[in-house]
Amino acid sequence: MTDTRFQSDEWKIIETQFEPGRGRDSESIFALGNGMMGQRANFEETYSGDTLQGSYVAGVYYPDKTVVGWWKVGYPEYFAKVPNAPSWTGIIIRINAEELDLAKCEVRSFRRELDMKEGLLTRTCSAVMPSGRVVEVIAKRFLSIHEPEKAAISYSVRITGGSGKVEIIPWLNADVYNEDANYDEKFWENEFSSSDGKRAVVVAQTRKTAFVVATAMENIFTLNGKPAKGTTKITTTDKTAHCTFSSDYSDGDTFAVAKYAAVLSSFNHPVEGLAEKAMAAAGEAAVKGFDAMLADHRQVWEKKWEHGDIAIKGDIAAQQGIRFNIFQLNQTYTGDDPRLNIGPKGFTGEKYGGSTYWDTEAFVFPFYLSTSDTHVARNLLIYRYKHLEKAIENALKLGFTNGAALYPMVTMNGEECHNEWEITFEEIHRNGAIAYAIYNYVRHTGDQDYLTEYGLEVLIALSRFWAQRSSFSQEKNQYVILGVTGPNEYENNVNNNWYTNTLAQWTLKYTSDTLEWLKSSSLVKYNAVVARTRLDTQCELSLWKEIINNMYFPVHHDLGIFLQQDGFMDKVQQTVKDLNPAERPLNQHWSWDRILRSVFIKQADVLQGIYFFEDDFTEETIRRNFDFYEPRCVHESSLSASIHSVLAARLHDTESAYTLYLRTARLDLDDYNREVKDGLHITSMAGTWLAIVEGFGGMRIRNDRVCFNPVIPAAWQSYSFIIRYRNNPLRVEVNGAKVNVVNLSQAAIPLAVYGEQVTLQPGEEKRFEKK
Ligand code: BGC
Repeated sequence: MTDTRFQSDEWKIIETQFEPGRGRDSESIFALGNGMMGQRANFEETYSGDTLQGSYVAGVYYPDKTVVGWWKVGYPEYFAKVPNAPSWTGIIIRINAEELDLAKCEVRSFRRELDMKEGLLTRTCSAVMPSGRVVEVIAKRFLSIHEPEKAAISYSVRITGGSGKVEIIPWLNADVYNEDANYDEKFWENEFSSSDGKRAVVVAQTRKTAFVVATAMENIFTLNGKPAKGTTKITTTDKTAHCTFSSDYSDGDTFAVAKYAAVLSSFNHPVEGLAEKAMAAAGEAAVKGFDAMLADHRQVWEKKWEHGDIAIKGDIAAQQGIRFNIFQLNQTYTGDDPRLNIGPKGFTGEKYGGSTYWDTEAFVFPFYLSTSDTHVARNLLIYRYKHLEKAIENALKLGFTNGAALYPMVTMNGEECHNEWEITFEEIHRNGAIAYAIYNYVRHTGDQDYLTEYGLEVLIALSRFWAQRSSFSQEKNQYVILGVTGPNEYENNVNNNWYTNTLAQWTLKYTSDTLEWLKSSSLVKYNAVVARTRLDTQCELSLWKEIINNMYFPVHHDLGIFLQQDGFMDKVQQTVKDLNPAERPLNQHWSWDRILRSVFIKQADVLQGIYFFEDDFTEETIRRNFDFYEPRCVHESSLSASIHSVLAARLHDTESAYTLYLRTARLDLDDYNREVKDGLHITSMAGTWLAIVEGFGGMRIRNDRVCFNPVIPAAWQSYSFIIRYRNNPLRVEVNGAKVNVVNLSQAAIPLAVYGEQVTLQPGEEKRFEKK
């Protein structure tokens, strides 16, 4: 099943073959980003082979018309898309009027190398053009994470075979489109370009949303390492700008261009003067130069690795996998802007439209919480806080009242923007993950003020939703939640999804307890929250209590398991072993009807709930549920393997945990699902981190203490990770015999290893016998 095209290396992803049939796959794997923009690894020179051109700008979206046929009240108005933005990477190479295009050349050697330590992409190739001329290209590029509106390319071409005329033409192009546009519409309009003779800029505006993006360049040409003497001319059309450098060449000459690009958007700047600002930024980059920009960029990456690396000894594939995942997460979100979030594909493709899903709270949040300064996770919560009003409006549209909030399943700006009726509408469990993230944040950081200032407002609105969405069943004499879709999207419109009911009850309880806590710690603040939310502390709180105490949960007493939903045992009971491997993945072979009535589970559902609330269950209960559900799970969501891996490690089944870990860690590198061409699975990459830190490392936060219960896969000699607890960094190293913990911070850290409680003083290191 695996397909390792890349060389083993701890810090690099290395491709050594030119495989035109896998071009899109590699464009995704080698994509770069810096939190503010992203770029697929499209070739700089002209390429007439198959390619998905992709440049993306954070925060910029287009509300594409949905393709729903029969409209019903409550349907989302649009399906948000991240537009493929004006492209800044192109460099045309023309030698005696013949254009370099690898699709038309004999490619003699080819190497692409992504250095994850430095965030640098290098491509070298040697190709024979149809005329017989040989060119050797070295292209390096990075998207500065130090100055995230800037990027630079250093591109050199050595020409052998005769002499003549060469043209090197860096260009900008606003004539771009999205492959996944629902109606083949263009997302951009009002394009224009301009130049001051030295620099050029193209400007384009998104239709409907009117985001303006200005993309500028300045280019510096050299010949054999010295300033080149040819002529340079900038020409522009409405949508493009070309900077044509022409010169004579002799056999063996190496021409190079340093292309400095700046991408500025109205998401961050006033529209007026945007084009000039972008040109000035490209100019500043050119003055600073490629090497100085790269040095600053490297330094930021060095810090990121210092804070969040995971080192694995003895298993290079696992090492490469986890670093690739950490690298991609850090490329996608840097956490400085609470208006931004993490799309399932980040900046690496069009699919999922760059929008925010429950993935953020349920899977990605712990990664940033433990590897970044506290403000990063806080900003992810603030993102939802800022969308609260829209979530209340969304719930109102669906018939809920009194400030109840239903957050969207998929969003850009707080509005629901997904195509699919059942999935959008009935996966109300997303509200639960948002509440859980608040709880997770507070227990990790100790930032109680967050609750008072923001968190409680969100929790109250979510609780109001759960209280209204639950209904009292006379038959059961309990509260039920009907007509939902759980995390398992392979069944829709089910009653009493155990996971959803669990999250609903828990949210009501957490909100009530938090209100109680605030009331006893600061009546003034409590009253302020009550006034702000117009909470009826009599009626509302007593209803919540009633629901908490009388929520119905489907269980199977004989099997001793929680039931995924009321009707689960009516299904034909089979396990994945009964499936014909040729029919996998099911979603590409079976009708939707067959999938929906089958017992097969797309991703952790009951087990997702057990993962969240593990401490509420005995090991025996966890085991029984795991042993029942895992064999029925086809793991057809990239989010699935990691949660199963954490639970398998919790159940001391280290080898299954390891198998599941490898599946998530190298999902994209080895293209398990044959879809990496569409982009990387950024949100599931955080699951890989969970599988190591929470799975093998057994990290949990309990009673203001960071706890570890490490296990180690047989294939590894050792592994180590750095996490932050209350913003204090801590390094944990595990080998077959010992667990070594070092407090890297200036504060004392209360911890427990295998239940042994100690407080580690600043700089202190302690060894524990491995159990
Ligand atoms: C999963 C959802 C997830 C979405 C985006 C789907 O395949 O089932 O849980 O939110 O992908 O990652």
